[in-house]
Amino acid sequence: MASDSHVLIAPSVLAADFASLGRQVKDATEAGADLIHVDIMDGQFVPNISFGEVVVDAVRRSTHLPLNIHLMILEPDRLLPSFMKADSDQILVHAEACAHLHRTVSLVKEEGRQIGVAINPGTPVSAVEEVLPLLDIVLVMTVNPGFGGQTFIPAAMGKIKRLRRIIEENGYAAKIEVDGGIKADHTAQDSVRAGSSILVAGTAIFNAQETVSQAMTRMRTNIQGLIARD
Ligand code: DX5
Ligand code: ZN
Repeated sequence: MASDSHVLIAPSVLAADFASLGRQVKDATEAGADLIHVDIMDGQFVPNISFGEVVVDAVRRSTHLPLNIHLMILEPDRLLPSFMKADSDQILVHAEACAHLHRTVSLVKEEGRQIGVAINPGTPVSAVEEVLPLLDIVLVMTVNPGFGGQTFIPAAMGKIKRLRRIIEENGYAAKIEVDGGIKADHTAQDSVRAGSSILVAGTAIFNAQETVSQAMTRMRTNIQGLIARD
């Protein structure tokens, strides 16, 4: 069961000020982030291009935290070596983007890296069920991937609950991560209550209204004391 002390916050640098990327990553690290989420978009799997290996390397040099690397790219196998560098990093591929998901999961595991599989809002839990015993993370997208600052899709909560039930019943190790539209409000709270223990937050952490430290404190306070219970 997730409790607040086990809920990890993963600020997404997609929303950061890229003119000061290193500073923003350091701010998030100093403000108590648990992971740094980096979004790789290829302009094919999702209708947007973000950044690649060079920027991920720069983020890696700016923090001691593990990177939670979200690959929104078609057939990620050929690019995996570019992103599997630090032992502590976590590689997340999309079930919809892999023709041979089991092979891709195995490739990452063979390199000793943590592996996660993401599913889009329109993708059922069954798309990931066969590899679930192998996973460190299952990522439930709460927006359609491609852009930051979108509105949370509440229907995804049912999927988190179903996944949590399967994971608990079978004694699997996978943590449930949520990504998209997570704010310091009911969206984060509902996700934790449903069973998520990794919260990705982009615009909720990097925005013009408050400092990274203030935003992190608000997020942490908002989920304090919550446990998975639905
Ligand atoms: C969306 C990305 C997210 C994005 C989240 O495709 O996968 O990680 O950065 O941004 P917010 O938290 O602003 O919805
Ligand atoms: Zn993401």
